[in-house]
Amino acid sequence: MAEAAPEEDGELRAAGLRLSVTGEVATVTLARPERRNAMTGRTWRALAHVGQRLPSSVRIVVITGEGPSFSAGIDLAMFRPGGVEGETSLMDRIADGSADEAELDAVIAEYQEGFRWLRRPDVVTVAAVRGHAIGAGLQLALSCDLRILADDAQLCMKEPALGLVPDLTGTKPLVEAVGPNRAMELCLTARTVGADEARELRLAELVVAGDQLDGAVADLVAALQAVPREAAAATKELLQGAAGRTLDEQAAAERRAQAGRLRALAAQSARDSAG
Ligand code: ACO
Repeated sequence: MAEAAPEEDGELRAAGLRLSVTGEVATVTLARPERRNAMTGRTWRALAHVGQRLPSSVRIVVITGEGPSFSAGIDLAMFRPGGVEGETSLMDRIADGSADEAELDAVIAEYQEGFRWLRRPDVVTVAAVRGHAIGAGLQLALSCDLRILADDAQLCMKEPALGLVPDLTGTKPLVEAVGPNRAMELCLTARTVGADEARELRLAELVVAGDQLDGAVADLVAALQAVPREAAAATKELLQGAAGRTLDEQAAAERRAQAGRLRALAAQSARDSAG
């Protein structure tokens, strides 16, 4: 198993993250269990760096949390005067007028990068959720392609209850999974959804007993690895685009993708017969 390089390791540790890469599989662990894996701006920047520096061998990314919670969301210290130790406080800068609209937009966009890359077609991303996934924690799980929940999972889009909106790219996958009306109900009541309801609402692909979570993730990873990676990437891209296309457009996209696959398979077959 390859761990992150030492300088990256320091950045990740400071951000409350751990990364391990074993062949085709990277595991990102939210590793601040004493704070229920609460995340800060530094966490999201480091997550973006993980995506940027992912070894090309990696085709599956598992996001998991250490301890009883997946993540309690944003570190609430970010809203207090002074903010999080060692990090510039955005709230202080807004309060004293030194962060203008453009900068605020840029900072949030930078945070969102920590979540956006999980949609990349060349990787399949899996959230393994035990315990609480609140606010930013739920948005992180929603950014993944697939979610496996332990039966003690509790999901909550808490932002509106704190006077905020969910802004870490979680609103789109939420609406796509549960529809706009249910998404509104969940966000505007900020209620907590247990694992069974999450499965009924299609917020989870699978719910398992807590002691079976690691095994279920390993089984899913093995099944994903059994499909050729190029076909998986082309299929993910096709499926991601489906909702935004008409049937004619999607049929054309299927033809284009298949032509690419057929050419690649023919070239492979020619190489195999030559050598
Ligand atoms: N930010 C900072 N510290 C946190 C956070 C957080 N989001 N969540 C938990 N902690 C800390 C607690 O303050 C506590 O610290 P202490 O040991 O110094 O007292 C420690 O982590 C353990 O937390 P407990 O509350 O004791 O753990 P418990 O298992 O009973 O409850 C739970 C876990 C439900 C997650 C609870 O901590 C909680 O409600 N946290 C706040 C959740 C929240 O509102 N997040 C923001 C959502 S909005 C967004 O993400 C944009």
